Amino acid sequence: MLMHYSMYVCLCFCSAWASYMTNSPTVIVMIGLPARGKTYMSKKLTRYLNWIGVPTKVFNLGVYRREAVKAYKSYDFFRHDNKEAMEIRKQCALVALEDVKGYLTEEGGQIAVFDATNTTRERRDLILDFGKENAFKVFFVESVCDDPEVIAANILEVKVSSPDYPERHRERVMDDFLKRIECYKVTYQPLDPDDYDKDLSFIKVENVGRRFLVNRVQDYIQSKIVYYLMNIQVHSHSLYLCRHGESNHNMEGRIGGDSELSPGGKQFAHALHSFIEEHKLSDLKVWTSQLRRTIQTAEELIVPYEQWKILNEIDAGVCEEMTYDMIQKSFPEEFALRDQDKYHYRYPGGESYQDLVQRLEPVIMELERQGNVLVICHQAVMRCLLAYFLDKSADDLPYLKCPLHTVLKLTPVAYGCKVEMFYLNVKAVNTHRDRPLVSNIACYPQLCLSLPQHQLFVLHGLPFSS
Ligand code: SIN
Repeated sequence: MLMHYSMYVCLCFCSAWASYMTNSPTVIVMIGLPARGKTYMSKKLTRYLNWIGVPTKVFNLGVYRREAVKAYKSYDFFRHDNKEAMEIRKQCALVALEDVKGYLTEEGGQIAVFDATNTTRERRDLILDFGKENAFKVFFVESVCDDPEVIAANILEVKVSSPDYPERHRERVMDDFLKRIECYKVTYQPLDPDDYDKDLSFIKVENVGRRFLVNRVQDYIQSKIVYYLMNIQVHSHSLYLCRHGESNHNMEGRIGGDSELSPGGKQFAHALHSFIEEHKLSDLKVWTSQLRRTIQTAEELIVPYEQWKILNEIDAGVCEEMTYDMIQKSFPEEFALRDQDKYHYRYPGGESYQDLVQRLEPVIMELERQGNVLVICHQAVMRCLLAYFLDKSADDLPYLKCPLHTVLKLTPVAYGCKVEMFYLNVKAVNTHRDRPLVSNIACYPQLCLSLPQHQLFVLHGLPFSS
């Protein structure tokens, strides 16, 4: 019996991951002078890859250098003729690469992002040899920028608060950092797509995405990385996320379906209209799902809106339009399975949160390209979108609190996202179900295999007993 389930687990686990598996792990190697947005791209790309289910981690060389040399004094450390410092910097790179190796071979990592300047061929050749020795694919991401305004803005936004400059004196940081950049320029060898580097796999990003050069993409995951990097933009904008107004189904505690707004839900739609006016969100794009409750909410705004089918709520399959009590009574095993691993659990005939994340990927890609957007969506959909922007794990995602009649404003700042929450003061039912305590999770004999929790999702194909 145990054998039977283990095999089943293994097969399903493999098929669920197959879409993003690369046959060997990949090291993404950043290249570029300081203040060219390498850390921004590294962090953002890592957040995206983790969100789509590819375990990814950033290894930032500055962190290793600060560990080795506790107090940074000045740009002098980065002069190419500072032999002592050059040796320390090389040792730091080797330690970081050892950690990359550990992550990709022992810790289940699929992609490591080596966030460093890597501006010399000598350093890149060392990394390529490291890749070959360990059978890792290597993909380079070079950021080239010659716009002094962009560089200055970057220094002010993220370098003034760097641990290298605890005093945070803007002028002194600017002066020292510009000199640091000059040190790197002496030895910088950009990727040469026509000759020396023509056989490497890379994307060159010019002037914050105004132009791209892509060379020898090796596999599916690299093409996804290229596609993502070509879509992200750095203009300032905000994303507004909310759920539809309270629906009749919400009032009855039923999930799914396509019910209309309750009287309170209609009131929220009015309040949302006032919110948009008060916040002067005139250039705002509004997106809804194709379900009546989001459309009725948007109708009250008296602005054009777009309907996206892929924004529809998670499909609860055979549990559509049931209350949690009804599900627990009719399908107790299903109910318990969902509590054990809510992210991977798929409703019979419906979807899992994991499915939903994949469905929503085009929405994320389009949100990255757009200016201000208000997305009127659903609880599970909002959790998935929020998890992307706030870098939440798959385990936490299904429990993110997204109350009705509340607008979240997300504004990208430096390497993260500022979140503001607006409750529009219209009463609504609470549809949130907390994560059950471990001791309360019902355990069915056939589910109690001693498997790591992340593999439990594969049991969702089990026939459920009534
Ligand atoms: C640093 O030490 O801050 C970065 C080192 C590098 O990538 O060159």
